[in-house]
This record gives sequence, structure tokens and C-alpha cells, in this order.
Amino acid sequence: MSVSVELFKRDIMRLSHTALFDCLPTLPADTLLPLIAAFKRDPRPDKIDVGVGVYRDAAGKTPVFGAVKSAERALLETQQSKGYLGPEGDIGFVRAIEAIVFGDLDLGSRLTSLQTPGGTGALRLAAELIVSARPEARVFVGAPTWANHPPVLSAARLAVVEHDYFDRTGQRLAFDRMMAALDDAQPGDAVLLHGCCHNPTGVDLDPDQWAEVAAFMARRGLLPFIDLAYQGLGAGVSEDAAGLHAVLKQVEEAVIAYSCDKNFGLYRERTGALFVVSRNASTAAHVRANLEALARTCWSMPPDHGAAVVRTILEDAELTSSWRAELETMRLRIVDIRARLAATHPLFAPLIGHKGMFATLPLSPEEVQQLREEDGIYMAGSGRINVAGLTASQVAPFAAAVARLR
Ligand code: LMR
Repeated sequence: MSVSVELFKRDIMRLSHTALFDCLPTLPADTLLPLIAAFKRDPRPDKIDVGVGVYRDAAGKTPVFGAVKSAERALLETQQSKGYLGPEGDIGFVRAIEAIVFGDLDLGSRLTSLQTPGGTGALRLAAELIVSARPEARVFVGAPTWANHPPVLSAARLAVVEHDYFDRTGQRLAFDRMMAALDDAQPGDAVLLHGCCHNPTGVDLDPDQWAEVAAFMARRGLLPFIDLAYQGLGAGVSEDAAGLHAVLKQVEEAVIAYSCDKNFGLYRERTGALFVVSRNASTAAHVRANLEALARTCWSMPPDHGAAVVRTILEDAELTSSWRAELETMRLRIVDIRARLAATHPLFAPLIGHKGMFATLPLSPEEVQQLREEDGIYMAGSGRINVAGLTASQVAPFAAAVARLR
């Protein structure tokens, strides 16, 4: 065949094939993150951002914790190497977090701990582990939940079963409906529970409900999958782990995904951990080998800086008490904003009994849109608000704009 015929054939092939990336599916846009850009673009000086879950102080800023700044300075001076640590990350960091999560609960060699890129990395790794152990496993997830839970879990091919969690009209937990749904779970299925400060509703299980669901999971052989992303912002550091403790006292196995985004203000540093509780030490060794292999295929090794900062804080008594004081100030500010909102209008009254940064208001997507256009109030389309996004002086205009719709 002549050279020119060969080239002609190649050109024809080039023209007839579809470019690979033209085959990509069209995805719905993320519902939350575009709010950041839309809010920035809005020129109105009195606009209000209660969208993305980022803590703001009384002046409306998200400052770096003083304890974090001090730890960063110390690290800059003392860190001798940036060499690899391995797929398990910074073990000093995970040991320090173990102490504030598990307290005096002695899990001994049943516990496997690993640093992860944020709480999201922990969720994904836990889902991968569950699927490796039992490909047909399902995870029961109360709705509404963090918008990223179902996609992260199903990206690991873990089947997600959504069930009722929240009574939107009554602004309370739909506990009976939740338990009725869990009745359908099979041994080896997982149950996702928010350890504290439920995102997006602020409605947590009370101690009796924790005990009941823990006994149910133990009896039925279900795996508790606890997402602890706001420790210290609900009722206090140890109080916010009480539900988790109630569960661990009753079950043989559990997974806990932990995030330092909010309680150390390390959002963009992607600092988290995964804890897996196994039946015994030999299963735990097997779990560790599997987790390290999975982590190696996902991100090889987690980013170091945030974890090194947290370790530096928690290994130093003075920095720890400074961090605890800053966290407590944040928590009390959230409690105060909840109380101020609750005092404005009956619509907000239930917020005083709820915990953490979020609340879900009974607003339609159209009403959410109207608030954005007419009042410059930015919240998630679901009606979720970031209570910690409001300053004290924004409470009255915010509440008046929302109450006007009722
Ligand atoms: C939120 O729920 O707003 C935060 O956790 C940020 C995020 O990643 O969605």
C-alpha cells in the first residue's frame, strides 16, 4: 500500500472516532460549593452567607486557631524531614485523636487507626474496606444527610439505602421511622450514624436512642459506621463522643470516620482519621493490612501538615488547653446564635434544642431562591443553614427575611 493511501486511511479513522472525553457523562453540578463563588460575586454589602459549613467568629471571619499558628511555628523550626511516613500516616496524630475520641474506653489491640485525607478520605476508605469484606453489603443512611455521603459511599460500590431520619415539619428526629427502616437490614450491613452535630439538621440521637440503636445493631449483627466530624462543637469534647461510646460498649465491630476540619479549623489541610474496631487482635491485624493496601491504591500516603499540627497541639499541655478554650468559645457562640434565632420567631424555636453548626429550615427550593435573589441570603437549596455563619447583628435581618415567607 502506498504511503499516501496509508495516511488517507489514518485521517479517515481520526475523523470517524469519537474523542474519549466526549463520552463523559453530564453530571449535575455540586449543590453546595458553587454557593461560595455566587456569594463572593454578590455586590450587596448586607448579604448573608449561611451556605457552606465553615465556622465564622463574632466578626464573621474564619481565622486560623491560635494553637494551630503556634504549632505551625514550632513545626517550621523543628521538622527535620519531609520524607514519606507510609500509608498509615502520622501515628502520633492518630494516637492523640484516639485519646480524645475513645477516652477511657479500652479497646486494646482490637483497634486499628490510620490517618486519612480528611474525614471524606476516612469515609471512602471505610466503604472500600466494607465492600472488600462483603461485596453485597449495604449501608443504611438516614435522610437528609451530608450531601456528599451517598456519592462517597457509592463510589466505593457500597449500596446506599436511604431511610427517614428527620421530621421536617416537626423539626425533630423521626426515630420510629428510622428503626422501622433498619429492621430491613441484614447481618453485615452497615448503619451510618452522625456521632454528634448532625449535618444538615442539628438533630442528634438522645442517650436513650443511642442505647436502643446500639442494642439493635449488636443483636442484628449490623456494623455501626459513625461519622464524627464536629467533636467539641455540640455539647463538649467528651460529651460529643458519648453516643459513640454507648455503641462501642455493645458491639464487636465498628468503623469511625473522623474529621479535624471544623474542630481544629484545618479545612483545606485535609486532616482526618479512620478507626476500625474488630472482634479480636488477629482480625485487627488483617484489617490493618487491608486498610494499608487500600490506602496505597487510593492516595498512597495522606498529606502530612494538618496531622503534624494536630499532633503538636495534642502532645503539648499548654497548646491543648489553648485549643480547648478556642473550641469552647466557638461552641458557645453557636449556642448563643441558636438562642438568639429561637427568640425571634416560632419558626426558629426548635433550634435551641439542637446541636452544632447546622439546621434545616422547612423552606422550599423556590423560597431558598427567593431569599437569595431578594435578600442576598445564601443557603443550601435544601433549606440547610450554617448557624455558625451568622454574626449576632445578622440574626434579626436574617430571621425577618425568612419569617416574611411564612
Ligand atoms: C458542609 O457540609 O458544608 C461542609 O462539610 C463542607 C463540604 O465539604 O460539604
